[in-house]
Amino acid sequence: MCGIVGVLGSNEVAPILVEALKRLEYRGYDSAGIATLNDGVLDRRRAVGKLVNLSDLLVHDPLAGKSGIGHTRWATHGAPSVKNAHPHRAGNVAVVHNGIIENYRELRAELAAEGIQFSTDTDTETVALLTELYLSQGNDPIAAAYKTLARLEGAFALAFLFDGNDDLIIAARKGSPLAIGHGDGEMYVGSDAIALAPLTDRITYLEEGDRAVVTRQGVTIHDGNGKLANRAVKKIKLTSASIDKAGHRHFMAKEIAEQPEVIGDTIRHYLPSGDDMVNLPGDGVDFTKVQRLTMVACGTAYYACLTAKYWFEQIARLPVEVDVASEFRYREPPITEGTLALFVSQSGETADTLAALRYCRDKADQIVSVINVPESSIARESDLALPILAGVEIGVASTKAFTCQLTVLLMLAIKAAADRGELDPETMADHVAALRGLPAILNVALDQNDTIKAAAQRLSEARDVLFLGRGQMYPLALEGALKLKEISYIHAEAYASGELKHGPIALIDKHMPVVVMAPRDTLFDKTVSNMQEVMARRGKVMLISDDRGISEASEGVWETIRMPHIHTTLAPILYAIPAQLLAYHTAVAKGTDVDQPRNLAKSVTVE
Ligand code: AGP
Repeated sequence: MCGIVGVLGSNEVAPILVEALKRLEYRGYDSAGIATLNDGVLDRRRAVGKLVNLSDLLVHDPLAGKSGIGHTRWATHGAPSVKNAHPHRAGNVAVVHNGIIENYRELRAELAAEGIQFSTDTDTETVALLTELYLSQGNDPIAAAYKTLARLEGAFALAFLFDGNDDLIIAARKGSPLAIGHGDGEMYVGSDAIALAPLTDRITYLEEGDRAVVTRQGVTIHDGNGKLANRAVKKIKLTSASIDKAGHRHFMAKEIAEQPEVIGDTIRHYLPSGDDMVNLPGDGVDFTKVQRLTMVACGTAYYACLTAKYWFEQIARLPVEVDVASEFRYREPPITEGTLALFVSQSGETADTLAALRYCRDKADQIVSVINVPESSIARESDLALPILAGVEIGVASTKAFTCQLTVLLMLAIKAAADRGELDPETMADHVAALRGLPAILNVALDQNDTIKAAAQRLSEARDVLFLGRGQMYPLALEGALKLKEISYIHAEAYASGELKHGPIALIDKHMPVVVMAPRDTLFDKTVSNMQEVMARRGKVMLISDDRGISEASEGVWETIRMPHIHTTLAPILYAIPAQLLAYHTAVAKGTDVDQPRNLAKSVTVE
């Protein structure tokens, strides 16, 4: 998704804006630009492609000034081009925007009727032209911006800069996140705290509908009803260290390597040492009152929910429904009494997941979220937000957030089982002990890196790949296929192993690698039969299993990746590691952009 920055500074602002935009690169983008006020005169530079192209442009054609706004664009309306890159300008106003103006065609028609010409294909240009129209009708910048905001429908985070006003940025938030940074004699605007980390750790998060008038002296915020709003200034623990690669080639490699440490932190947070009871924040969840659990998410977070369904149903005997948010919100399912609605989201800003939460707002008994950004919209709109404590995840492909989500969901399922009397103390202790031992086992899995890298070299030659898994490993097969396709661009899909004969087996030939994710559990023998069916048709099986599984079933197998033995319940968390490393090394072998894969965004804040 797009990234927005704004600075009212005391030094030349162009390099500060570009540096802040670099911290937003992880959101995904295809063009970038900045606008500044130099002695009150508005000017801008924009470039297609990576930020280095904008930096090069600024070397040859610099922009002076101590006030400015900047933008990284993930194209929604109009192809990636200089013409369509932000900031968009109309006369005395420049605008940067994250989101979609859903009524922009109606507004364009209104402006065209006023004889106004358009120079881009974007919805955002309409915002600049409408503001300029209101300025030309005698409104001052604040009134012109506010009149414009009142006309907009859809989702937006916006920042406005006005000719002749070098101590003013107007910011607004509706559906897309936006933060205000507090400096010393300086003020900032950014899509998130990461963008502003080198400038300040004092952040105010705008709420839905907020409008902010920012000057170097501070910020004045009005809520969606026009009332003065007093929003907290929070101290954000974001060090520069948490947003650099720490010697790794890619953020994704760093974040894969961090998993034992961050998962250990997560476990200790909910299972303090010496205590076998899962501690939830606030009033927690009383599962004795929960008849049914509905889980909603997108992408990798959805696969975390699918995995957790096995745990809640098998350990806690709690009926569970899982849905992708984009389907759930329009299916409008009946939410019956005793329903706990649970939303999983790394960013906490995914538009479909947030909309699904709002659908459940006045229907479910309790709204709980499992999130990585405590100040995010989904967290703030939940009755209870459970942090996964994964730390900042920069790589677009989710890794440590996924395994931390799984860890929190497993602990929640254990809590549910304990509340519902489905788990005797001995079995509870057994699960808790297994959890406490998990980080060490994950480290053993990470030691398989070189073996996995070698397997990835062979996988990188494939055009299509099939992933198979049974039971709680089926969602892991789905996640493995998503990881591979989203960063290596190899087509990959996943099936429940038992589905192979119901169609997918037609795909099997000597060119088709089949990745089988199968610890030696009670379903293993069934999966071995599927492997035989694949190899009988010259399919190439890559078996990811433990010592016992590999010793029993590796004859004729194309590749094996060996995992340590683990408590059956925790296997999905462990097997995420080889899936991630396989995708990572395949992508590196193919030379794709691992941290910012083409067309993808880290947080999908628009539908
Ligand atoms: C995961 O690798 C993808 N980048 C994507 O599927 C992601 O999981 C999905 O967009 C959900 O994001 P969220 O967890 O921030 O809601």
